Amino acid sequence: MCGIVGYIGNRVASEVILKGLQRLEYRGYDSAGIAVINDDIKIVKVKGKVNMLVSLADDHNVSGHMGIGHTRWATHGEPNDVNAHPHTGATGKFALVHNGIIENYDVLRQDLEQKGHMFTGETDTEVLAHLIEEIHEMSDHDFFHSVQQALLQVEGTYGIAVIHKDNPDRIIVARKGSPLLIGVGENEHFIASDASPIIEYTKKVVYLEDGEMAVITSDGYEVSTLKDVLLTKEVHELAMSLEQIEKGGFPHFMLKEIFEQSDTIADCMRGRLMVHENRIQLGGLDGVVEKLANARRVIIAACGTSWHAGLVGEYLFEYLAHMPVEVEYASEFRYRQQLIDERDVMIVISQSGETADTLAALREAKKRGAMVLGICNVVGSTIARETDAGVYTHAGPEIGVASTKAFTAQVTILTMMAMLMGRETNVISDDYMRKLVKELRSVPAKIEEILKDTSDIEAIARLFTYAPNFLYLGRSYNFPVALEGALKLKEISYIHAEGYPAAEMKHGPIALIDEHMPVVVIAATDHTNDKMISNIEEVRARKGRLIAISSDGQSGVARHAEFNITIPEVHDCMTPLLTAVPLQLLSYYIAVNRKCDVDQPRNLAKSVTVE
Ligand code: AGP
Ligand code: GLU
Repeated sequence: MCGIVGYIGNRVASEVILKGLQRLEYRGYDSAGIAVINDDIKIVKVKGKVNMLVSLADDHNVSGHMGIGHTRWATHGEPNDVNAHPHTGATGKFALVHNGIIENYDVLRQDLEQKGHMFTGETDTEVLAHLIEEIHEMSDHDFFHSVQQALLQVEGTYGIAVIHKDNPDRIIVARKGSPLLIGVGENEHFIASDASPIIEYTKKVVYLEDGEMAVITSDGYEVSTLKDVLLTKEVHELAMSLEQIEKGGFPHFMLKEIFEQSDTIADCMRGRLMVHENRIQLGGLDGVVEKLANARRVIIAACGTSWHAGLVGEYLFEYLAHMPVEVEYASEFRYRQQLIDERDVMIVISQSGETADTLAALREAKKRGAMVLGICNVVGSTIARETDAGVYTHAGPEIGVASTKAFTAQVTILTMMAMLMGRETNVISDDYMRKLVKELRSVPAKIEEILKDTSDIEAIARLFTYAPNFLYLGRSYNFPVALEGALKLKEISYIHAEGYPAAEMKHGPIALIDEHMPVVVIAATDHTNDKMISNIEEVRARKGRLIAISSDGQSGVARHAEFNITIPEVHDCMTPLLTAVPLQLLSYYIAVNRKCDVDQPRNLAKSVTVE
């Protein structure tokens, strides 16, 4: 998830590109770079935000009327000057920027190294640059077809723009899984990841589809497939405002990120859920799986939403790998008598990778000799760098303060980790792994189904916008989801809400129930279905306002609740990936109705870097 901008025409390319990158910065801001051609090719790139690049570009002569730029959100190789895009091969004759993940970069890199290629960084993108160069230098393909042939060898996702010093009249672009569009001007053309860098120059755009390439010149463009079939593309007229475009047409980043979850969970599983091989591949855990499986204690430490994901992880590790796990608030762990040493393993979970309490818990555990694994979203973040090993969630930048797509990505990673450990501990048979892989693979489409029609959730939100309190109840895997649902509501709508294990109600909290109390019951877990129906009846008997989250096959639950939000069926242990989504939406719509600042709620920060 990054930003790409390209320009060719009569303007000063660097002005268009740098301004465009600033407009794309919300898509990722680890590093930024620009390449322009003016006789020779000039590349300037730097770790940090686009304004760092702007000042650096001022010091270098990046004049010229054509070029490309990139603002990075790292997936492979930490944010630094070397890993910043554009990338080039050894000859330095061309420059490439890339959005996406080259899944088979490791195999390609090894092959290229055997052919004598030397790499300067750790990114997957640099491998593509060298592959293009290898083909161009060692074959009679022209540059366009060298790019094309290289892309035919790539597995994974890309949106790329490439320029070559010997072809200063054209920019080559290609798309597979990462957005790219062409801006159509008068004797000038633009390339960008979304329309925000383009809209002030032209409202005419052409959207590239997956599997398409294009050659862009100042006076035109030609779109074709990777098999050289020429395509005629429709020119669209942009209707959205600049601000709307940055949010992908959504009114808030939070809603955009909720709706991204089908894609972000697919991205999280890409190259890791090996369907044909019927196994899980988590490269970041290579070399530590056995130690994790044989740990005396496994402790998960995190804060807030990440702590809720850790709680789901506890149920998953127990069920799928028969491994006991303890989940600690990172802030509490560090002040307790930590009975942890080299026999133990800690797993820290953090979207930002900068949460002070989680970092402190990590350091305490390491000081006592424990191995620490990380589940982070931001590549190269402090927590990611200080753990012994770990897995990135690949959810892309999460701009909304309330964590949504990061939570479901964390739970996806924990599910895959538990499946991997289940094989390591021989708890999961081949056949059962096949069933689990199939179920997990079905999740993105099922989330898409939930997101298709949110009208029921919006109607319920309207009814309870001014409720003073909410209760959220869940059992088993969905008890942590009850806590997460309550947190979402609290932090963006400022309504007091509590999450409980459903059975706990009768031990006190049921005294709160009356006709003014909305009670959200997450009842999608089949193996606790009957008990959940009893809990629903207990609430109903006291006139509580029941909102049930249940799956297609749980008509029993639906019959007993006043309102029912139905989600598709999925394996019990994977229901949190689905049940979280309606709760995120319910909180969002209530907060919007209350005119709260959804993306930046009062008193909160996206990354709590203080203790
Ligand atoms: C979640 O919506 C909140 N923004 C907050 O609880 C957050 O999950 C917590 O601060 C932990 O952040 P981290 O995942 O970046 O460590
Ligand atoms: N995978 C590439 C990298 O880590 C591109 C990431 C992006 O889309 O910004 O550099």
